[in-house]
Amino acid sequence: MPGATAQTAARRASHVPVQPGVPLLSVQDLTIGIRGSAGRSVAIVEGVSFDVAPGQRMGIVGESGSGKSLTLRAIAGLLPKPVEVLSGRVEYGGADLLTMPAKKRRTLMGPEIAMIFQEPMTALNPVVRVGDQIAEGPRRHLGMSAKEAGELAVSMMARTGIPDPRRRARAYPHELSGGLRQRIMIAMAVSCGPRLLLCDEPTTALDVTVQLQVLRLLERLCSDTGTSLVFVTHDLAVINQTCSELAVMYAGHIVESGRVAEVFRQPRHPYTRGLLESAPDFDRPDRELIPIPGFPPNVADRPAGCPFAPRCGYVRDHCTEAMPPLAEVAPGRLSACYESDRLTEVLA
Ligand SMILES: Nc1ncnc2c1ncn2[C@@H]1O[C@H](COP(=O)(O)OP(=O)(O)OP(=O)(O)O)[C@@H](O)[C@H]1O
Ligand SMILES: [Mg+2]
Repeated sequence: MPGATAQTAARRASHVPVQPGVPLLSVQDLTIGIRGSAGRSVAIVEGVSFDVAPGQRMGIVGESGSGKSLTLRAIAGLLPKPVEVLSGRVEYGGADLLTMPAKKRRTLMGPEIAMIFQEPMTALNPVVRVGDQIAEGPRRHLGMSAKEAGELAVSMMARTGIPDPRRRARAYPHELSGGLRQRIMIAMAVSCGPRLLLCDEPTTALDVTVQLQVLRLLERLCSDTGTSLVFVTHDLAVINQTCSELAVMYAGHIVESGRVAEVFRQPRHPYTRGLLESAPDFDRPDRELIPIPGFPPNVADRPAGCPFAPRCGYVRDHCTEAMPPLAEVAPGRLSACYESDRLTEVLA
């Protein structure tokens, strides 16, 4: 049923007023880490700030361990112990999610904010039929009857391209393939028509053709309902297909952000440039891939100054003295690099 998501979005009770000109999500100076004794905390993600406007699709990219998942989990209130938010704000429609009473926050999770995880088996209940799992949100949050929510679950499954959805709704997660389980999780996440969808590598575990179908599906669902997206991946090609805005993370910091097309055309941080030059480009298979030398630093043992300095071809003395601030280097483009003026090359 093509209108299913639009219908749910229309039924969604508004928990937070979204005002024109106010970002839907605003992450401000967020520091995440592990609190130690005598104030000796270890920061894993440090000073991360970004805004997501209603309907905007924002990608977060970076190497393994750069802090992408922790950033997303902090927004959803799902940080794994002993990791916690050490400072900063996460505002949703102007309300601070971090200081909001847990009860109020729970009313937002599902109908307003939903999350899709990398491995669906961790998010699905193994002993509940998948149709019932999808129906639970609409029953609880949209006040639907069991029958109504069951019908919605079937139409959501059809919408996510699951063949024979009425029969499959009665299946348990282990009876379905990885691709179908991922679609079930998407159907579950969008069943209440959330305004903000947080996706953590939702297609990494899938083979390439299924990956493409799932990305197209997510894109279509978001455009149908005006849902905003924060999409975490280490795959630049996936960002290019799905997002309009991009934040690049390195060792717990955002080092560059801007519009995807512009960042790809002319990266203004050496790490972004390195990522683009080391990633295969399917349109130009003969292009030489240039790997980034060295390894990212251990979070507990970050060097002074810019964490990318030990691997950077543009490094100068001041880079190792203090962390460069994330500053506007062109309209709508931020880079945390003292040498960003030297990065003027346009990548074809
Ligand atoms: N539960 C935890 N306890 C302690 N440290 C953790 C925990 N989870 C993550 N970390 C630390 O935080 C760092 C960032 O983790 P995060 O999962 O956000 O990385 P990521 O960018 O999502 O990486 P990947 O691409 O591998 O998923 C990790 O390198 C690890 O050192
Ligand atoms: Mg991760």
